Amino acid sequence: MKSSAAAHPNIAFIKYWGNLDHDLRLPANGSISMTLGGLQTRTTVEFDPDLSQDSFILDGAQAAQESLRRVSQQLDLIRSLAGFPYKARVQSENSFPAGTGIASSASGFAALTVAACAAAELELPPKELSRLARRASGSASRSIFGGFVEWHKASTDEGSYAEQLAPADHWSLVDWVAVVDEEEKEVGSSQGHRLADTSPLQEARISSAAGRLTATRQAILSQDFATLARFAELDSDMMHAVMMTSNPPLHYWRPTTVEVMQRIRRLRSQGIPVFYTLDAGPNPHCLCPEDRAEIVQEALLKIPGVRRLLRAEPGGPARVLSEAD
Ligand code: PMV
Repeated sequence: MKSSAAAHPNIAFIKYWGNLDHDLRLPANGSISMTLGGLQTRTTVEFDPDLSQDSFILDGAQAAQESLRRVSQQLDLIRSLAGFPYKARVQSENSFPAGTGIASSASGFAALTVAACAAAELELPPKELSRLARRASGSASRSIFGGFVEWHKASTDEGSYAEQLAPADHWSLVDWVAVVDEEEKEVGSSQGHRLADTSPLQEARISSAAGRLTATRQAILSQDFATLARFAELDSDMMHAVMMTSNPPLHYWRPTTVEVMQRIRRLRSQGIPVFYTLDAGPNPHCLCPEDRAEIVQEALLKIPGVRRLLRAEPGGPARVLSEAD
């Protein structure tokens, strides 16, 4: 009753921010992302009838109580589907450092869900794995799939899951994550989603999301970089406008964050195809076609507040690992 799985994080072009139902994590709007190959979480789950409680080792250390609680909650869902009560040992490692603007909850909960289902001998199709992963972390529903992914909004648990829009080899994009601040964020996304409705701008963001989703989906399918850039930046700025105007407000940007955003816009006005997008943190993701990756890298490294860059490309789906992996 032991299995291991690996999953990549993802970066959203159209963001998930706010829920229709917080317990079921039914999102207020659909979202679209790219799975980030080159960065991954590996997780091993072992159910053991002799254990009296779950345990969770994260990056070699005992995980915080709150992380263990979320892992146990997810294992409870899988235990009830499998029809057994056994507790589990969970061990997880990230290939990327925490606090770098890469959402480890997406890759972490996708890998946990896939490993736990395999250990419980539950054979679920990817769509069902995506629904299950969604319960632990919304963005994890997207990390079940590789390449370019859309997660659907729905008013029921059955209807809200992610699907692949295009595989990883559809489009050679590079994502440079400009690390400007490595401190753990004060307000995590689970808490942040609960604040979204306190912003007077959330309603406008949600009611206009369908148009941005359609434009972004089309832009990905037709490899229209300029349109993708326009809508991804707009959507990221809109999410941060909601964050900044919620009660209490969430301000994730730092001075260097704004410098990077301005530099990216300037590069674009000079004819270099590139755009930024930010999750719930200060570290911009800067995306460009692979053949422009070096120019963008050089420009970002010239900004004094940029501490380092992480590189990612479209990656594959979450998968069960064999002994050989
Ligand atoms: O899946 P969560 O609850 O960690 O929320 C993710 C929220 C953002 O990263 C800010 C946006 C997104 O769609 O990934």
